[in-house]
Amino acid sequence: MRIIMLGAPGAGKGTQAKMIASEYQIPHISTGDIFRSNIKNGTELGKKAKEYMDQGLLVPDSLTCDLVVDRIAQDDAKNGYVLDGFPRTIPQAEALTEALKARGEAIDYAIDIEVPDENIVTRMSGRRACLGCGATYHIKYNPPKAENVCDACGKELVLRDDDKPETVQKRLDVYHEQTQPLISYYTEAGVLKELDGTQDIDVIFGQIKELLK
Ligand code: AP5
Ligand code: MG
Ligand code: ZN
Repeated sequence: MRIIMLGAPGAGKGTQAKMIASEYQIPHISTGDIFRSNIKNGTELGKKAKEYMDQGLLVPDSLTCDLVVDRIAQDDAKNGYVLDGFPRTIPQAEALTEALKARGEAIDYAIDIEVPDENIVTRMSGRRACLGCGATYHIKYNPPKAENVCDACGKELVLRDDDKPETVQKRLDVYHEQTQPLISYYTEAGVLKELDGTQDIDVIFGQIKELLK
């Protein structure tokens, strides 16, 4: 099962992708998480990516496409995966389609989680992320058991650098300009599934399981 998660920043792609990965035992591949782990480890890729991410801009396709194409060719991705945050531009989608085609494969589902811009800024200001394992929480909608401590690994939870309201607005603008065209791209490919992302996390996951049946 090869799945793509589409949706604005903060729509809940990561939240649902982690649940899908654990339910269906396939890897969750998030380009955002890969870049953040590179930033944390001080790699060359991390240094380059940070310049763009902190401004709410996309990391250039040249740094992104090969990374994902290599990742999905690894052994644990044989039976599928859930891609979260990639593709994000038409050239990225084309690179992915080509790489898959060369192996006689294709994306099975592109799940688009729709949330209006108005809801996004509130959601982001309440998000807390774990620096240890990448788990995400929301102080109101999905709180950790102990305040500011990760349920999974016990490390401290923080507000992401790019979750400040002014950066969130920039990320939304970039989303509408560069990523939203993918909705038509995957509609034409016949694999788009749209969901209302303003519902409860568990309700959305129930609908995802239904459509993956
Ligand atoms: P990335 O990490 O992918 O960020 P994003 O797309 O902006 O999305 P987010 O992770 O912010 O949101 P999400 O949809 O995963 O929502 P979440 O589940 O956390 O990318 C970051 C940056 O990296 C980009 O800006 C770019 O610079 C760079 N980058 C990454 N990939 C790239 C690529 N392919 N090309 C170029 N550059 C790239 O949920 C948000 C919050 O809401 C959480 O607190 C959650 O608990 C809560 N929540 C979730 N669902 C619900 C619900 N149903 N109801 C209430 N609250 C909910
Ligand atoms: Mg995410
Ligand atoms: Zn953790």
